[in-house]
Amino acid sequence: MPSFREPLSAQAIRAALVNVPSIKEVVYLPSVGSTNDAARDRAAQGAPHITLVVTDDQTAGRGRLGRSWYMPPRAAIAMSILVWPDLDAAHSNRLTMLAGLAVAEGIEQVTGLAAKLKWPNDVVVNDQWTMDNEQFKKVGGILTESAIVGERVEYAVVGIGLNVNVDFVDQPELAATATSLMRLLGREVDRLSVLAAVIGRFAARFDWLSAGGALRAAWSARLVTLNRRVEARTAETVLTGIAEAVDDGGALLLRTDDGALHRLLAADVTLRA
Ligand code: BTN
Repeated sequence: MPSFREPLSAQAIRAALVNVPSIKEVVYLPSVGSTNDAARDRAAQGAPHITLVVTDDQTAGRGRLGRSWYMPPRAAIAMSILVWPDLDAAHSNRLTMLAGLAVAEGIEQVTGLAAKLKWPNDVVVNDQWTMDNEQFKKVGGILTESAIVGERVEYAVVGIGLNVNVDFVDQPELAATATSLMRLLGREVDRLSVLAAVIGRFAARFDWLSAGGALRAAWSARLVTLNRRVEARTAETVLTGIAEAVDDGGALLLRTDDGALHRLLAADVTLRA
């Protein structure tokens, strides 16, 4: 049986991406604090569009809302994609939409698992045997950090964390809400195949977006959050209501019980019964 716990390498990643010519540079770091920081440093040094930074051991991974991101060495994918997009700052959330789609499509391509998205940036898979009582658990997350100049995105770092072969045995609290491709399939999964599929989909979706293509329909179709009763915690308040729709900017349109429609750009959303 092959071991998928071997370290990656720049050479192996480049070989896996041979059919994705838009990836101009691959940076492999055996260990790093955060690939998002490493990609931002490369941007400051003029690294090209599209540069991919990958590590086997991320020691200070960040999630949204200042949370830390758990990653045991060589068991997961932690990578950041540096892009210099032609994008208004007001549309920077589109990169998170694009990355979410790419991760879900890449997972499906390699594993056949039905990957969904939980607004705004979680990649989730149903963890239950029966479909009538779905329990979605998180397999991946996206953290997009943009450098804004005037009203434009100068560059953006799209960070992707994906639980491929993480067992969570020492992490009972995380295991309540998170899972991995290995846990879902009952076997280890080749990280390089998943990485290549996700990056392939990212590059294709990026071309689509750059050519004026819309992401909302495909994104909405995967959102488990829509038409559900949710609780949304923003920095200012807690709102409960029906998640009616998302708009082209990636905002969530939440109808509260008093009939008001709220446009949320950032919030922590929990599905309610
Ligand atoms: C979230 O779910 O809150 C987002 C998690 C994003 C984690 C990835 S791992 C690679 C990249 N580097 C980081 O420090 N964070 C992102």
